[in-house]
Amino acid sequence: MAKPVLVSGIQPTGKLHIGNYLGALKNFVDLQNSGKYQCYFFIADLHALTENPTAKDLTTNTISLAADFLAIGLDPKKSIIFQQSQIEPLQELKWILSTLTPVSELLRMTAFKEKVLQALKPGEREKITKEKFEEVVEASNFGLAEYPVLMAADILLYDAKFVPVGDDQDQHLELTRTLARKFNAKFGKTFSEPNSLHTATPRVMSLNDPAKKMSKSMPAGCLFLEDAPEIVREKIKRAVTDSGNEIKYDEEKKPAISNLLKIYSSISGENMQKLEKKYTGKTYSEFKTDLAELVILHFADYRKKKKALAGKSSALKTILTSGSKKAGKVAARKIGEIKKKIGISL
Ligand code: TYM
Repeated sequence: MAKPVLVSGIQPTGKLHIGNYLGALKNFVDLQNSGKYQCYFFIADLHALTENPTAKDLTTNTISLAADFLAIGLDPKKSIIFQQSQIEPLQELKWILSTLTPVSELLRMTAFKEKVLQALKPGEREKITKEKFEEVVEASNFGLAEYPVLMAADILLYDAKFVPVGDDQDQHLELTRTLARKFNAKFGKTFSEPNSLHTATPRVMSLNDPAKKMSKSMPAGCLFLEDAPEIVREKIKRAVTDSGNEIKYDEEKKPAISNLLKIYSSISGENMQKLEKKYTGKTYSEFKTDLAELVILHFADYRKKKKALAGKSSALKTILTSGSKKAGKVAARKIGEIKKKIGISL
């Protein structure tokens, strides 16, 4: 029997942080190696265009993300690793799905609102009026609003059953399921309804503000996978902590230390109770020193492999081209079926 399909993508927007890793990428590798799924992992270069990068940055970041994929353990022999923009049928499916999507649904997406608000200065965001918000929405690029429709097309084109992502993508997955249902109801069963797969850390928080998600848009709070050992030590040392001195998991009363404990536990595999016991009577500083060494050791192999891949851009391009060809074949078959269903294949 065919294995269930699993699809996920990451935007080539710069260095990966430990939130990308613990929320998504680590799971990509584990799921790939379980051998239970037909895996598709792609570089979401079209989604990255919504941030208006320069051509040079987009190319550099695409190659760098391909190197990240391999350095962390994705394997083109086990998974189809490809570049989103090379899949032409994706454009057709995105258009077809957009005709089933109410504009209002797109405008109420949390990720959309957060992205458009980034255009404002920090002080302005908190006290924004309804009128000002509408103004910012009208000025934003259309791609930001369309983002989830393209994402739904990414997923439905391959009949994915599972989508490993952080919890910031749940609303987009919900829309994907709604669109699959709508299409099936109108044209007959064509798509499966995909579910997201979460890790134990679907939302890693910022190192300098545990109320905010770790995000590339706020690099100061990010721990990047490529960070050199001395930078990791420095960042973890400087990470905010809570009042008191007990090392205890309590998301409400101790959000900062809880975030660090979760990072520790996800990397080491030790459960929270065991960790709390290990650090009873120890100081924040002792815990942070251990966490830094754990992170440094965990990513040592990745850093070595990523460095080794630095001069290998043509080999990386070949891997992407070959993966895109494989994904393209599957996509071409599916779009043929879709076109027949909607009545444009005469
Ligand atoms: P991107 O590149 O913004 O994020 C890549 C993945 O990292 C997860 N993530 C986090 N997880 C936990 N804690 C965090 N602080 C954190 N920050 C980011 C994201 O949830 C994501 O899984 N829209 C996608 C790209 C995409 C996609 C798709 C994914 C495009 N098409 C189709 C799945 C299926 C995104 O946000 O990428």
